[in-house]
Amino acid sequence: MRVQAGPGKAGGSGMGEDRFSMGTPQSARDDERVKFSYQGVPYQVPAGLTIMRALEMAGFQILHGSGCRAGFCGACATVYRDAGSPEVRVALACQTPLHPGMDVSLLSYVPVHRADYDVAASADAAGEVNRLYPELATCLGCNTCTKSCPVDLDVMGYVGALLSGDLPRVAELSFPCVSCGLCAARCPAGITPFTAALHARRAVGRRAPRAPELARRIAEVHAGAYDGELRHLRGLDRAVLEAAYHAREIRA
Ligand code: FES
Repeated sequence: MRVQAGPGKAGGSGMGEDRFSMGTPQSARDDERVKFSYQGVPYQVPAGLTIMRALEMAGFQILHGSGCRAGFCGACATVYRDAGSPEVRVALACQTPLHPGMDVSLLSYVPVHRADYDVAASADAAGEVNRLYPELATCLGCNTCTKSCPVDLDVMGYVGALLSGDLPRVAELSFPCVSCGLCAARCPAGITPFTAALHARRAVGRRAPRAPELARRIAEVHAGAYDGELRHLRGLDRAVLEAAYHAREIRA
């Protein structure tokens, strides 16, 4: 995540805003103030904010690394230390409440191993994942990856399933992964669990039966069934479009 001190936007920035954020309180408690540090520099903000909103309240403008603000995109990987604690912990800034005395730092990028592959070309996907990610075999079994996962996945469990070639199990265990990279940042063996798991999910998805609904919808799109609706939306002014977006039906 890249943040910039300066005029900023104390009320939030970019898409999403609070109404879509499951982790951001509806309103900060203005009467109560919380002290925290960003990269060692002290700030004070109203209580009841997430780390991300606290930074914005402190005057930072988040230029890169704030996507969904709802715990899905994994863009806001963060390391922090609680006051008095010896432990550096990890979190998603958009989902984690600010604690008094916290010292936080946002990770702009986690350099990870991303192999090149053609998922359609391999007849032995399990073998290919292990060939492309040989460091999987160096797993120490320390479980640091699982403890680092901000969405509570059994990361070490799916690394074990990768090693044993059980890709459907990998797909099941890793499905909610937000690709924040924190497991890779903490792994002492240099493993990038989440990119190997993504390869596995792609391989499993490639071999899964095609959903007839998807084929039907693609045919409708190609036949122009939604062209009129799209034209209508493109003709709306921004405020009306935003209101329509916020009022849209969300299916579970
Ligand atoms: S901004 Fe998407 S997970 Fe935090």
